[in-house]
Amino acid sequence: MAQIIGGLSTSHVPKIGRAIAGGTQQEEPFAPFFDAFAPVHEWLDEAKPDVAIVIYNDHGLNFFLNNMPTFAVGAAHEYHNADEGWGPPPPRTFRGAPALSWHIVESLVADEFDVSTCQELTFDHAGITALDLAWEGHGDKPVAVIPIVVNAVMPPLPTPKRCYSFGQAIGRAVRSFDQDLKVLVIGSGGLSHELGEFGKINQSFDELCMEKIVTDPEALTHYSNDEIVDLAGAQGLELMTWLVMRGAVSGDVEVVKSLYFTPISHTGGAMMLLDSRR
Ligand code: DHB
Ligand code: FE
Repeated sequence: MAQIIGGLSTSHVPKIGRAIAGGTQQEEPFAPFFDAFAPVHEWLDEAKPDVAIVIYNDHGLNFFLNNMPTFAVGAAHEYHNADEGWGPPPPRTFRGAPALSWHIVESLVADEFDVSTCQELTFDHAGITALDLAWEGHGDKPVAVIPIVVNAVMPPLPTPKRCYSFGQAIGRAVRSFDQDLKVLVIGSGGLSHELGEFGKINQSFDELCMEKIVTDPEALTHYSNDEIVDLAGAQGLELMTWLVMRGAVSGDVEVVKSLYFTPISHTGGAMMLLDSRR
């Protein structure tokens, strides 16, 4: 059976991809953030996941205000990258895992999560940044990928409680897949920020979220979306991607690495790797 071996969460900012492309990872302001991924690389070399499920919010690339699924699951054979604001990037291909994707879709719908199924989906910076931080640079990834998109953009938004439950349903789906695959669940987003408004970083709330994600994720499900926007800014809603990740990676976990380093761009920058192998 498939097994969830761990969860990785990270903030995403397009400038991270820019730094990787320019080889400027050790320049200000990102060096401590990039350095935090050294133990992640070591862990991944040893744990060797076969598949990475990448939970993120789409930023108007696949879904815009006229067409906004609450939850969407990629079920393609492969995925491509897209322009991040600096002109067309070199084209890249990410290998999919369609059999597991379809199993997840079928399991989620049977579990009463009526997701959109996407046989075409393009990765924006949220997915790409996380994958390039996990496996250094812009090279081929040693894993197949499954993108899962959560609406953290346009009301009506799924609540934190619903996102956590959605993650738990993803976990049930993966664990009932009858192939021996090792699956890493990645959540890409957050923490507190509001684009166009500097000063929306709320360090104490971010630190609380990072603690609760590990020890008591259900505590975060008691917030409303409006409370999160008040506390963490409009894009602070990207915290939902961490809640989905943690729902999927259920039970006790070991923290392999955790860093809060702010600001990275507009964002309360945070990363965390959880080992759920028992
Ligand atoms: C930034 C943060 C984001 O979440 C994003 O999607 C784009 C940019 C930033 O802080 O620059
Ligand atoms: Fe974002």
